[in-house]
Amino acid sequence: MAQFYKKCDRYLRFGEATLLKKTGIYPYFHQITGEQNPIVQMDDNEVIMLGSNNYLGMTSHPKVKKAAQKAIEEYGVGTTGSRLLNGTMDIHIELEERLARFVGTEDCLVFSTGMQANLGAISAMISDKDEWVLSDQQNHASIIDGIKLAKMKSSNKRIYKHNDMEDLEKHLKEIPKGKGLIVTDGVFSMEGDIVKLDILVELAEKYGAGVYVDDAHAVGVIGPHGRGTAAHFDLVDKVGITMGTFSKSFATIGGYIAASKAVCNWLKHKARSFIFSASPPPANCATVIAVLDIIEKDESFRKNVLSVAGRMREGLIDVGFNVGDSSTAIVPLIVGERRKTMKFFRDLFEHKPRGIFSNPVVYPATAKGEELIRSSYIATMTNEIVDEALHIFEDVGRKMKII
Ligand SMILES: Cc1ncc(COP(=O)(O)O)c(C=O)c1O
Repeated sequence: MAQFYKKCDRYLRFGEATLLKKTGIYPYFHQITGEQNPIVQMDDNEVIMLGSNNYLGMTSHPKVKKAAQKAIEEYGVGTTGSRLLNGTMDIHIELEERLARFVGTEDCLVFSTGMQANLGAISAMISDKDEWVLSDQQNHASIIDGIKLAKMKSSNKRIYKHNDMEDLEKHLKEIPKGKGLIVTDGVFSMEGDIVKLDILVELAEKYGAGVYVDDAHAVGVIGPHGRGTAAHFDLVDKVGITMGTFSKSFATIGGYIAASKAVCNWLKHKARSFIFSASPPPANCATVIAVLDIIEKDESFRKNVLSVAGRMREGLIDVGFNVGDSSTAIVPLIVGERRKTMKFFRDLFEHKPRGIFSNPVVYPATAKGEELIRSSYIATMTNEIVDEALHIFEDVGRKMKII
């Protein structure tokens, strides 16, 4: 048997996934029946959904669903080609114009996923051997992989301590002025804390570096009307490149880069994940336009999600959980040990009469010793559901001696 198949065979028999299944704490691939709402049917259980990124609850909004249906009627179901060739429809252009206006940039470019946006944009921006990247230690995997694809020398990659602006400056001092791109999540995906963008931007100006912010978990949630991290800090003009996804607040799938006309034009012709992949289906574009129509007028969705997450955060702190520095729609419960985190997930999930679905986050998605349960909230969640979930966290947390 060829080595490739042998390793798969070995993993199937002895790999960690199989061992976790045998001990009954494998946490992945549970099946949902029906819509992604605050209460879902998962496997045979009714559970409270604290593991989605459906921050604004838009996956089930009637106007959004209708817009997607209408787009299918008008354009069909897919594009069957790259934007460069047959895959540009008028709805892609309309969406790019709407997003550029929303984020506050000159231009915008839509990709088929957020992962592809980061892979393509980061590797295309850092395209010379003598360019440098400075990346937060807790950045998302798509940023890490985008950096791996970049053509710079491997010694030109600097990883600075999480949200530590002193450490970032130490690195900036060591690299040639004007050659570095600082890349950071706006809202960090696992811990829910916000980048110290005001200080980061000052440092970028001092050392002539570019600024690239991944707003996957920020757009729709922070900043006026959910315009994102730069708007939250009133620094829209200081962030050169903003990346975002449609897979969270925008309730569908796709990604974007909002930037100057020159940057978007560069990416249009250099970003391989943009050029060599089919464009997002029209229904996805219509979904995002419909969400923009709603959130540009109505702030209640983002206010609700921040309010329910805030209620949970306070409750968790009161009963003794460590919730880190989160201040957004993501609230981590820090457990600090891999197996215990998986077991905590399982006991929350199997709690009766109703359990919680959450996300166990273990190394390498977080540092060793900082394993956590990531809980995230939905604008349509009621206080009653939040309080029920808090009681479950407390009950299971006490039994497991986490609190
Ligand atoms: C911070 C961050 N960036 C990028 C992505 C990738 O987004 P997508 O799901 O659209 O591929 C994610 C998704 O989890 C994310 O959390």
